[in-house]
Amino acid sequence: MALNIWVVGNGAREQAIKTACEKSKLSKSVKLIEEENCLELLSEVSQIPDLVILGPEQPICDGLVDEFTARGIKCIGVNKKFSQLESSKLFAKKFIVNHGIKCAKLLPIESNDFPQVMKFDGLCKGKGVKVLYNNDEKNVFARKFTGMRYFIEEYLEGEEISVMSYLYNGRLINFRPARDFKRLSAAKDAPNTGGMGAYTPVNLTDEQQIKLQIYLEKLEKSLLSEGADFNGFIYSGLIWTRGDWYVLEYNVRLGDPECQAILTNLKNDFLDILLNGAEPEYHDGVGACLTIAAEGYPEEPVKGDEITLPEDMNIDVYFAGVETKDGKLYSNGGRVLSLCTNSENPYPALKNYAEKIRMEHKYYRKDIDI
Ligand code: AMP
Ligand code: GLY
Repeated sequence: MALNIWVVGNGAREQAIKTACEKSKLSKSVKLIEEENCLELLSEVSQIPDLVILGPEQPICDGLVDEFTARGIKCIGVNKKFSQLESSKLFAKKFIVNHGIKCAKLLPIESNDFPQVMKFDGLCKGKGVKVLYNNDEKNVFARKFTGMRYFIEEYLEGEEISVMSYLYNGRLINFRPARDFKRLSAAKDAPNTGGMGAYTPVNLTDEQQIKLQIYLEKLEKSLLSEGADFNGFIYSGLIWTRGDWYVLEYNVRLGDPECQAILTNLKNDFLDILLNGAEPEYHDGVGACLTIAAEGYPEEPVKGDEITLPEDMNIDVYFAGVETKDGKLYSNGGRVLSLCTNSENPYPALKNYAEKIRMEHKYYRKDIDI
C-alpha cells in the first residue's frame, strides 16, 4: 500500500526529505506540515496520514512522536525520553559516561584552563556552545542564556564528522559519515551557525573506520540497554582526537545540511530504509550542499530581499528561509537556500551557481571544498 506522508518542518532538510519520499515507490502523497499546531491539524483534515516523519528537534523534544504513536499513527522520530540526548546536554553527558563512550572531560565551573568549552543545557539552535579563550569571554557568554544550567568541559582538537544513524526495530542503520561546516567563515573565532555546507562521504583512515564501527556498535548497545524502542534518527557529532572518536554532541534528528548531502548521494529508496530497514546504498562521487544565507546571519539576518534563481538549473535547490509573494521569492530567514549536487568535485559547480543567484544581501562560504 502506498502511503500518505506528512513531513513535519519547513526547512531545507524537510524539503530534501519530502523530495526523497516523493521519489519512492512506497509513497502516494507527501505533504510538508508546519511544526506548530500539527497535532491540532489532525482533527481538521479529512485524511489522517499513514506516516509522519519529524524533521526538526523542537517537535521531537516536545514529545510529538509519543503523541502521534498514542493516536495509532506511525511516526519516525526519537521519543520524548531519548530526545533529551539533544534537549539536555547534561542528560547526554550522563548517557555517554554511563556507557563508557569517550567524550571531553568536565571541568570545574571556575576553571582557568583555556581554551575550554561552555555548554548550555537546553535547545539553543546551535548557539548554546562556545569555545572560550579567556575569562572576559567566559563572563560574557555565561550571561547569554540567563537561568539556564551550563557546564564547562575541556577543549578537544581534531577533525570532526557527523554520523547519522537510524534506529529501526532495535537495530542501528548507519549512514556514511558527513562533514559539515559549522562556522560562519574560515576564521577560528567565527560564530557557530546551523551549518554553511556539508558533504559526504568523508575520507577516513582504516583505523578511523574501525574505531567508528566500534563506537557505533557501542551506541546501539547503549540505546537498547536503556530500552530505546522508537524508530528514529540519532546524530553523533564526533571528533577524532587521542587516537579515537570522542562524542561532542548528540542530536535526535537528521543534521541540516548533512541530510541534504546524504540524500543527494543516496542511490536507493529512502522509504525502503525507513520502513523496511534496507541498508543505504550510494552513488559514486560526493554528495554536497552549500548554504546560501543572508548577511547578518546568525545574529540578525537581513530579510526581505527578492531572490532570482538562474534559469539553467542542473542542481537541486531546497528552500529554507524563503517566502513566496505574488509569484516572487523573498528571503525570510538566516539560512535561505540549500544548493545540492552529487559529482566527483561538487563545490566548483555549487559556488558557480551560488554566484549567479541574485539576492542583495546574499552570503555563502567561498572557501569550502571537499
Ligand atoms: P555542540 O553543539 O556540542 O556540537 O558544539 C558545537 C561545536 O562546538 C562542535 O561541532 C565543535 O566544533 C565545538 N565543540 C563542542 N564541544 C567541543 C569540545 N569539547 N572541544 C572542542 N570543540 C568543541
Ligand atoms: N549541522 C548540524 C546540525 O544539524 O545540528
